[in-house]
Amino acid sequence: MKNIVEHRFEVTRKERNILNGHKGLVLWFTGLSGSGKSTIANALEKELISKNIHTYTLDGDNVRKGLNNNLTFSPEDRTENIRRIAAVSKLMLDAGLVVLSAFVSPYLKDREGVKIAVEEENFIEIYINTPLSECEKRDVKGMYAKARKGEIKEFTGISAPYEVPARPDIEIKTTELTIAESVNKILKEIEHKLAL
Ligand code: ADX
Repeated sequence: MKNIVEHRFEVTRKERNILNGHKGLVLWFTGLSGSGKSTIANALEKELISKNIHTYTLDGDNVRKGLNNNLTFSPEDRTENIRRIAAVSKLMLDAGLVVLSAFVSPYLKDREGVKIAVEEENFIEIYINTPLSECEKRDVKGMYAKARKGEIKEFTGISAPYEVPARPDIEIKTTELTIAESVNKILKEIEHKLAL
């Protein structure tokens, strides 16, 4: 960046981690709309808090209504949505938090971009794998019905693509696991990464 010189702040991420008693991490939940990303992130966050882990959840509700309220669901805007969320996740990571980011994030290259932005060792990709037929059956927000009728354009899974993660760090098949089992599976995978 031209004419931007980083100031060297004296309090480091490491010191914030020591103060918290654990490292920070970015837990990136990807999957179709209605797959259960936010539900599992929410249950996991409750569990982490009970273990004195400092967390924050980012999802469509608190990001697309504020910071990203000027973005649509076009491919370009989805990419920009994820780019900004990656930047926010990175700041929160630096602040010492375990960040739970739950976004459809349908493009491989965008998720790859997050991994690069926050650095691989801090990034865990969690694929919430719920078949489209199941998401559509649940249709919690009634959006699939609208998308089928053409009332919502470019809807992921119906009229816009979802690129399945090739090698997610964790895969959760919600038709096979309960919420509690899903949370336990994720906890087991991340515990060693949280340790100082
Ligand atoms: S992303 O593709 O840019 O990562 P994001 O996770 O922020 O999507 O938002 C997805 C949520 O927005 C969905 O769960 C759904 O409730 C709502 N939504 C509204 N329009 C669309 C659309 N065209 N495609 C997907 N989700 C949509």
